[in-house]
Amino acid sequence: MEKQQGSRESFATKFGVIAATAGSAVGLGNIWRFPYLTGENGGAAFLVVYLAFVVAIGIPVMLSEFVIGRSARQNPYGAFRKLAPGKPWYLVGLMGVAAAFMILAFYTTVAGWTLEYIYQAITGGLTGKSGPQLSDMYTQFRDGSWRPVIWFFLFMGMTSGIIVFGVKKGIEKSTVILMPVLFIILVILGIRSLTLPGAMEGIRFLFRPDFSKIDSSAILAALGQVFFSMSIGMGTLITYASYFPKKDNLLGTSFSVALTDTFVALLAGIAIFPAVFSFHIEPGFGPGLVFVTLPGIFQQMPGGSFFALLFFVLLALAALTSTISVLEVIVAFFTEELKMSRKAATWTAAGTVSILGLMSTLAWNPLMKGITLFGKNVFEILDFTSANILLPAGGFFIVLFVAWFFGREKASAELSNDGALKAGYIPFYMFLIRFIAPVALAIIFLNGIGLLRL
Ligand code: PHE
Repeated sequence: MEKQQGSRESFATKFGVIAATAGSAVGLGNIWRFPYLTGENGGAAFLVVYLAFVVAIGIPVMLSEFVIGRSARQNPYGAFRKLAPGKPWYLVGLMGVAAAFMILAFYTTVAGWTLEYIYQAITGGLTGKSGPQLSDMYTQFRDGSWRPVIWFFLFMGMTSGIIVFGVKKGIEKSTVILMPVLFIILVILGIRSLTLPGAMEGIRFLFRPDFSKIDSSAILAALGQVFFSMSIGMGTLITYASYFPKKDNLLGTSFSVALTDTFVALLAGIAIFPAVFSFHIEPGFGPGLVFVTLPGIFQQMPGGSFFALLFFVLLALAALTSTISVLEVIVAFFTEELKMSRKAATWTAAGTVSILGLMSTLAWNPLMKGITLFGKNVFEILDFTSANILLPAGGFFIVLFVAWFFGREKASAELSNDGALKAGYIPFYMFLIRFIAPVALAIIFLNGIGLLRL
């Protein structure tokens, strides 16, 4: 057992560190968002760009967050205040807290949908439905009823319930079991999907790149997805790393988390695209893709309703291990900076996020449908602004901070655990965060939002 450092808790075991952090990374981003974005942006070519960004930008940003979080042992705002007193870097921490509000709002909307599908799987509502019927069912539920609101509040309540009673024991213990189970279920689904008639067309779509499909908005979407999926750019990992034991190997943890995250996204793609082509669903179907295709696959399996139930339960739990990590950012900020009790901080955070969340959940409802900006409804605005703008901008400042302000010496001490670990990769890491990552981020970002035309 790790000893407590000051008044702050630490995760108890090495596997606990990985399970909790991978629990934050693996979630709706992998199983819901990655497949539909890949579908909308041309398939394999999007995947290639995505993988390149994971290596060149994702891992360096993740390591930088670990360095900041574990050396400061504070929430993101407090961490920058502590490491750079009197300097405006704390604004990066504040931006992270703002991004946490936005992400939690729209993420919990989708997490709530998983509860509806659990309910439908239990009551037999998915059985015997054709592709078009499943697609109608999804749109009618999302656009025309109040049920999404009920599920939203239930999910927000579950997230808050765990945070109130302390994350470490609950999360560390549960993620160690839940992550492997989720993984096994995805493998089973992948195999079933691959053996559907016409499955190869889906595999070709996912693995044979056609680069003519890639434009600047697809590249920005891939970048946003890397940040979203790896939980980087807003201080979630600064917060989690503030609970890492001092002897943890940060590079090893970042590799384990990045590999798990990428592998789960690929598995989700393998489970979904063959089914998309086999059932003649449009790959660019959008956010409803997983809710329409997977129930379709389950119909084709013996014991399908059981697997449908299992899948949506696990999807909900994967979402829960992520929503907890986002709420923890706000709660750590409230408790440490505003000196609130953990309980008051949790309910204040959940209450305020819910206002935004309600608007996001009702974004397709006739009540709110008219409220749009650049053709995007409230849900889409929250998703786009947080993933494609705030997270990459946060990542840009995080790497600049470690590279040019915190500096090589202190970063090396943190990464090598004060010389206890060999860390021969540090010159390469410094090169990536000094030059490659910030320049790439700036170019993709300005190009993606149209301020720079390449
Ligand atoms: N990474 C999570 C997922 O893929 C979502 C998330 C984003 C969590 C940002 C924390 C911070 O589902």
